[in-house]
Amino acid sequence: MNIALIGSGGREHALCHKIVESDKVNKVFCIPGNAGTSKIATNIKVDALNFKKLLSTIKKNKINLVIVGPEQPLVMGIVDFLEKNKIKVFGPKKYPAQLEGSKSFMKDLCRENKIPTANYKVCKKKSDVLEFLKSSKIPVVVKADGLASGKGVTICYSKNEVIKVSEEIFLGKFKSSKKLVLEEFLSGEEASYFLIVDKRNFIFFGSAQDHKKVGERETGPNTGGMGAYSPAPILKNKIEKKIIKKIIRPTLLALKKKRKPFTGFLYAGLMIKDGEPYLIEYNVRMGDPECQVIIPRLDTDIVKIINYSLKNKLHKIKIKWKKIKCMTVVLCSKGYPGRYSTNKPIGSIDNIKLEKKSIIFHAGTKIDKKRLVSNGGRVLNITSSGNSFSNIRKNIFKIIKKINWRGGFFRKDIGWRVI
Ligand code: AMP
Ligand code: GLY
Repeated sequence: MNIALIGSGGREHALCHKIVESDKVNKVFCIPGNAGTSKIATNIKVDALNFKKLLSTIKKNKINLVIVGPEQPLVMGIVDFLEKNKIKVFGPKKYPAQLEGSKSFMKDLCRENKIPTANYKVCKKKSDVLEFLKSSKIPVVVKADGLASGKGVTICYSKNEVIKVSEEIFLGKFKSSKKLVLEEFLSGEEASYFLIVDKRNFIFFGSAQDHKKVGERETGPNTGGMGAYSPAPILKNKIEKKIIKKIIRPTLLALKKKRKPFTGFLYAGLMIKDGEPYLIEYNVRMGDPECQVIIPRLDTDIVKIINYSLKNKLHKIKIKWKKIKCMTVVLCSKGYPGRYSTNKPIGSIDNIKLEKKSIIFHAGTKIDKKRLVSNGGRVLNITSSGNSFSNIRKNIFKIIKKINWRGGFFRKDIGWRVI
């Protein structure tokens, strides 16, 4: 079969790397892909948010299956559109994609189904904010309701800051919505829990922990993720059972009851406090960079898993995992997550001899006049596996030393909880 993968990040390079290994696959196209995917698949420069153009590209290239990487096309209804046009596609439809696309949708669903999550209020105007502040303790978390590329969440340490940040959102700081959610602050340890879901079943698809803050010791603004490792040691069997019973099952059941079942990758962002899991957020896709540390551990054909899921037969497949640990460190453009420049040449990384346990997943890269150049904030994911996180990280640093790129920076403390 011919497969098209939508997206251009490190997540998509990792997925592509696994997809091309499958013996079920003939041609793989990445739309639009990056310099890394161009080496193992065919990149097509089409805007995936232009659904009509996408459809004609799919037909022209005789694509049998579309796998969607990022959230934006999912939230915009790419799956509904392609299915209507008789194209097989892996991902959630527009309605269940609101789990990520609207914080208020997700929180209301939690409240209706008694799913443990931070106490909250949906606010449309200043008086709503003032009312929540009357009975809440600082810090308070302010969240833009719609998609905001990881920039919509602010933890506020004074009531004045809550009011200021809220007013910016009401005035339209984020195009996706002028609504917001105010939340009680939860302390504890964060972890990411992944599933593949079909209309009848769900199956575990790895755990990870990422580092969202740009600075070492978890300081500075939030980013898309500066590094990650898998598995997440905090997600022990007992907690996992609680996650499934108190969070995952009630969520999937609630959507099924609305006749809007969830399908695709589901990512639960959790806070673990005193042995109890609380839902912080849902994402309706794989994590980035979490995907880059889960894929190297996967020992089953991913296309086979996706095909079983599209037939609602996930209960018939057993996913095998390699008994290794994996970590990735993200090399970013200086200035990220603020302003940064692009088109900066990166010394050839093809000459770096990598052992089998290591791989460099590209994110914001492209080939310009036969040279590898930066093309985004997060540029390369230096990834390695082994038995000890400490040795894995040492190995990653050795590889980074060989990359001749002055325009970049990275966090040296990725995995501090496990090292
Ligand atoms: P979200 O986009 O909802 O995942 O929020 C981004 C990040 O903000 C999370 O990964 C947490 O680190 C932090 N965060 C969000 N909500 C809360 C909360 N209620 N309590 C503490 N931290 C939070
Ligand atoms: N690494 C966080 C995310 O993918 O949303």
